[in-house]
Amino acid sequence: MKIAIVGATGAVGQQMLQCLEERNIQADVKLLASARSAGKKFSFMGKELVVEELTENSFKDVDYALGATENDLAKKWIPWANADGVVVVDNSSAFRLCDDVPLVIPEINPEDIKKHNGIIANPNCATIIAMVALHELYKKYHIKRMIVSTYQAVSGAGVKGIQDLESQLKDPNAPRTAFPYQIAYNLIPQIGGFDENGISSEEWKMQNEARKMWHDPNLKVNCTCIRVPVMRSHSESIFIECEEEVNVEEARQLIANGNGTVLKDDPQNKIYPMPLDTTDQDLVFVGRIRKDLTDETGHSMAIWCCGDQIRKGAATNAVQILQELIK
Ligand SMILES: NC(=O)c1ccc[n+]([C@@H]2O[C@H](COP(=O)([O-])OP(=O)(O)OC[C@H]3O[C@@H](n4cnc5c(N)ncnc54)[C@H](OP(=O)(O)O)[C@@H]3O)[C@@H](O)[C@H]2O)c1
Repeated sequence: MKIAIVGATGAVGQQMLQCLEERNIQADVKLLASARSAGKKFSFMGKELVVEELTENSFKDVDYALGATENDLAKKWIPWANADGVVVVDNSSAFRLCDDVPLVIPEINPEDIKKHNGIIANPNCATIIAMVALHELYKKYHIKRMIVSTYQAVSGAGVKGIQDLESQLKDPNAPRTAFPYQIAYNLIPQIGGFDENGISSEEWKMQNEARKMWHDPNLKVNCTCIRVPVMRSHSESIFIECEEEVNVEEARQLIANGNGTVLKDDPQNKIYPMPLDTTDQDLVFVGRIRKDLTDETGHSMAIWCCGDQIRKGAATNAVQILQELIK
C-alpha cells in the first residue's frame, strides 16, 4: 500500500506523518509539496523520506492520499489523484459540502465513509472539536440551537501562523504574514472573509458542517470565531438549547464515558480544560458544564472545551478515516 501526503511540509502534513507512525500504519509513504520543498528530508519509521514536487504524475503508484493543502490547490490536484484511482482524504474545505463527498468524524458518522466516490472530506477543525465534545449530549437531549465562541490557536493558520506569533512575541513589529493585525498580545475577531450579514466563512462552517454530519438540516448555530495568541489547541465556549430537559450531572457522565472526550470539570478545585493541556494529544477535554439559569424551561446548558486542532481537528481525524478505509 502506498500513501501520499500532499502538503507534507505544512503544519497538518507533518502531523499526518507522525500520526501514521504512531498508529503503526504499514505502508510506503510518499511526501509531496511545492517545488520549494523538493529534496527536503523527513524520517518515518526509521527510514528517510525525500519530499517530491507535486505534479500531475505524482499519483501513478499511489493508493490513498491525505490532503493538507489550501482549497485552490486541492481543487487542482485531487482530480489528478482520482483519475489515477487514488482515494483522497482531504483537509481543505473545497469539497466538504458537495453532496457526493462524505464529511466524516469517525466518532460520529463513520458509516458515511462507505458512500465515497474517491473523496472523503475532513471537517473544519473547530467544528470537529465542538462536535466530539457535544455528540453524547446531542444524542441524549437533541440539541436544536447552539451559540459558539471559538478561541482559535495561531497554528490553525498553518506554519505561517506559528512563525508570526513566535516572531511577534520577540518583536511586535515583526512582519505579519498570516493575519491582518499583530497577533502577539492581541485577539483578532476575524477568521476568513465576511459575507453581507457580517458572518465570516469560518463561522458558517460550524452550522453547515454540523448539519451535514448529524444529518440534521434544522440545527441552528450562531458562531463567533476569534484568533488568539495561543500556539496550538482551539478552545470553545458553547451554549446549547435542547429539545429535552438537560441534567448537568448526567451530562458529565455522558461526556466522561463518551468516545474521544475527557471530562475535566471540577471548577472548585480549578480543574477545567485549557489549551496547554490538550496540546499534542488526540482527545477533546470538556468542562465548565452548567445549566443556563436564564432559560426557565431547563433545556439549555453551557460547556467549555479544548482540543488540539492540528491533531484531532485535522491530521488524526484524517488518519482515523484512512484506517476505516483500509480495515
Ligand atoms: N493548521 C490547522 O490547524 C488546520 C486544521 C484543519 C484543517 N486545516 C487545513 O489543512 C490544509 C493545510 O493547512 P496547514 O495549516 O498544514 O497549512 P501550511 O502549514 O501552510 O502547509 C501548506 C502545505 O501546502 C504545500 N503547498 C503550498 N503550495 C503548494 C504547491 N504549489 N504545490 C504543492 N504543495 C504546495 C506547502 O508546501 P511548501 O512547504 O513546499 O510550501 C505545505 O506543505 C488547509 O486547507 C487548512 O485549511 C488546517
